[in-house]
Amino acid sequence: MTDHRTTTEPSRRPGDEQPLLAIDGLSVDFRLPTSVVHAVQDVSLHVHAGETLAVVGESGSGKSAAALSVLRLNPSPPCVYTGGEIRFDGRDLLKLSERELGRIRGRDIAMVFQDPMTCLDPLQRVGGQVAEVLRLHTGMSRAEAAEAALAALDEVGIPDPAARYRQYPHELSGGLRQRVMIATALVARPRVLIADEPTTALDVTVQRQILDLLVTLQHRHDMAVVLITHDLAVVAETADRVAVMNQGKVVETGDVLDVFDRPADPYTRTLLAATPRLEAA
Ligand SMILES: Nc1ncnc2c1ncn2[C@@H]1O[C@H](COP(=O)(O)OP(=O)(O)OP(=O)(O)O)[C@@H](O)[C@H]1O
Ligand SMILES: [Mg+2]
Repeated sequence: MTDHRTTTEPSRRPGDEQPLLAIDGLSVDFRLPTSVVHAVQDVSLHVHAGETLAVVGESGSGKSAAALSVLRLNPSPPCVYTGGEIRFDGRDLLKLSERELGRIRGRDIAMVFQDPMTCLDPLQRVGGQVAEVLRLHTGMSRAEAAEAALAALDEVGIPDPAARYRQYPHELSGGLRQRVMIATALVARPRVLIADEPTTALDVTVQRQILDLLVTLQHRHDMAVVLITHDLAVVAETADRVAVMNQGKVVETGDVLDVFDRPADPYTRTLLAATPRLEAA
């Protein structure tokens, strides 16, 4: 018996039907005193377990505003969510109370940012900060959380984790701080990780190490990853699918190889043309 759907949709794999995180028709405005910025306009993004979705697009195209919407982290005011839904685990995150969303933040869905200091408390030792996430989201005792936090620092490749555990963020290099933020994000074993330009502020060699680390941890824990980046070479190497944003809209989305080989949208072609080294990579 011939199943026409399997022949006409060869890229569909079992389990593809249910994205873990599905943003559908999201619109986000920033209502400023004298103007309204339509930062995100009818954007749909889906990511499955074990998959990396890259979101690319020039500065101001709405990548961060869309990503921050998942955990409702845009400052409000001026942010207003004007439409769409964000489904995770059968629930619309935009409709949850702050309290319900608080249980999902950091436990089921975690974020890492460009600047670790936005997440890390400068006055608290880094080990304690990682342990605190576990105390918040699990029933672990103080001793159990400390032990698991130490293991998390080790897992993200921090040398001599026991000594680092007791240090403050300012005592660490940028690369180590980024690793601590990743440990903080991943220690509670979230199912979705949203990484917004996680390596932009780092040296090129450290960037590579951090990306390799994210890929390793993603595979180990079967996470869905949304990776926002300016770097199309990184997209080519790490992502399964890519969404291209321009002026608040997704102008093109698909498998990375398809989109990079045959960009359908003129803006995507411009973006690819501006990255001449990609073809050599
Ligand atoms: N808190 C805010 N208040 C007012 N406007 C904002 C705010 N955050 C974002 N915007 C506006 O929304 C639009 C989208 O911004 P966003 O930060 O999502 O862009 P981006 O694609 O992440 O850019 P970049 O690559 O520079 O990080 C921009 O016009 C920006 O000025
Ligand atoms: Mg941004």
